[in-house]
Amino acid sequence: VVILVIQLSYILYIVCVKVIGHDTTVIYGENATLLCQLTETDDDLTRIIWKKKTREKPEEDAFFVIRQGGKTEQRNGLEDRVQFIGNFAKKNGSIQLLRMRLLDEGIYTCTFNLYPSGPLETDINVTVFGKMACTCYSVS
Ligand SMILES: *[C@@H]1O[C@H](CO)[C@@H](O)[C@H](O)[C@H]1NC(C)=O
Ligand SMILES: *[C@@H]1O[C@H](CO)[C@@H](O)[C@H](O)[C@H]1NC(C)=O
Ligand SMILES: *[C@@H]1O[C@H](CO)[C@@H](O)[C@H](O)[C@H]1NC(C)=O
Repeated sequence: VVILVIQLSYILYIVCVKVIGHDTTVIYGENATLLCQLTETDDDLTRIIWKKKTREKPEEDAFFVIRQGGKTEQRNGLEDRVQFIGNFAKKNGSIQLLRMRLLDEGIYTCTFNLYPSGPLETDINVTVFGKMACTCYSVS
């Protein structure tokens, strides 16, 4: 009976570990905050990888890697427009994208590489709105 209980709690524990992400909407030219958090786990976090599929480039593309101690590595494209604002030790992979363009709209994927259980990921939809010009007429 004791063995059974231990195995059951182990299974429940595995099911509960997940990545929480939040979809976001931003106005053209402003900064987008992409929140991504891994729930409690005893696994070792080796890397956090951000991928994107945008209007500009619909093929999935890894663009940002965060390593132990919060060291970041930039790939393909966004250059200085991406900043790590999370906390590696707390398994918070949040980033900020600066000066959003309409072409940046798309699906962003936040992947936590865990040892030994392997990668866990979630998709975040990012929508970019153009600024609307508004003309007001007075009706008399
Ligand atoms: C966007 O972020 C940059 C750098 O953190 C900051 O200088 C700028 O004021 C921010 N822009 C807006 C619209 O919040
Ligand atoms: C993760 O980091 C972001 C940016 O610093 C922060 O806003 C958010 O509250 C953090 N999430 C948690 C669960 O601490
Ligand atoms: C995110 O975008 C995908 C593909 O366009 C869509 O299938 C999905 O329903 C969206 N998710 C949310 C929460 O809007």
